[in-house]
Amino acid sequence: MHLIVALLRQGYRVGSIDLDARQGTLSRYIENRQRCSAEDGLALPVPTHHRVPRSTLDSASAARDDETERLAAAMASLSAYDFIVIDTPGSDNSLSRLGHARADTLITPLNDSFLDLDLLARLDGPGRRILGPSLYSEMAWEQKKQRALADGGSIDWIVMRNRLSSLDARNKRNIGRLLEQLSHRIGFRLAPGFSERVIFRELFPRGLTLLDIRESKAGMPLSMSHVAARQEVRALLNAIGLTGSFDTGASEVRESLPLTQVQTGSP
Ligand SMILES: Nc1ncnc2c1ncn2[C@@H]1O[C@H](COP(=O)(O)OP(=O)(O)OP(=O)(O)O)[C@@H](O)[C@H]1O
Ligand SMILES: [Mg+2]
Repeated sequence: MHLIVALLRQGYRVGSIDLDARQGTLSRYIENRQRCSAEDGLALPVPTHHRVPRSTLDSASAARDDETERLAAAMASLSAYDFIVIDTPGSDNSLSRLGHARADTLITPLNDSFLDLDLLARLDGPGRRILGPSLYSEMAWEQKKQRALADGGSIDWIVMRNRLSSLDARNKRNIGRLLEQLSHRIGFRLAPGFSERVIFRELFPRGLTLLDIRESKAGMPLSMSHVAARQEVRALLNAIGLTGSFDTGASEVRESLPLTQVQTGSP
């Protein structure tokens, strides 16, 4: 959601697609945003949003065709947009794989713990050595191949650490070291992460992000922690290859950029 709003605030036209429609968190976040915007008379930028639920067809191949078709239709309707941000479910399913295979940039947020690291790679007992890739990494790798076969495109895979804690510096260092090694073996780039911040959980009911606090009537002054959090969002944009500031608001629409799909999914 922060990525979507950051892109909107830089003046890009942004479409969003929820492939995790059963959980539907992204869709509800956007609905909350639309409601809050109308109720409070705020002119918050909102993406053009689509939900693409899983197929209910029985046969696996018919279901895959159905999902491929509906995802393609949603993406086609957003073809004039600068960015399409796709949210995929945490669990592996055919729709999630289709979403991965359409990505130009794949962003995998990873909670900063050994438990979550296990979703990227199999580690030895004490968590010191990498034994091999996980099912998720193999799936992402396979979708990179599918993407290359489909249109010759490549997927820039970025892993970003989330919920970084300032309390456990040793854990942070150990995970950082393993991720560094993994990035070479599995073929992703590491982006600077997001810290654990209560504010990230508090903004959902109103559909707001840290980038909206100034115009929201949330009664929240912009604190040092908010400023630091905005820096983290900006650093993520930089890692994707976008620079700029959100403080100027969504004014200019940049026409020159090619259509780019950004896919965010967690293993
Ligand atoms: N940096 C953070 N600081 C504090 N809370 C966070 C942070 N990141 C995520 N959360 C909270 O963790 C919960 C799960 O976040 P989110 O829905 O983004 O995870 P997810 O990886 O998409 O989960 P799923 O795999 O179930 O789709 C939410 O309540 C969210 O507000
Ligand atoms: Mg999710």
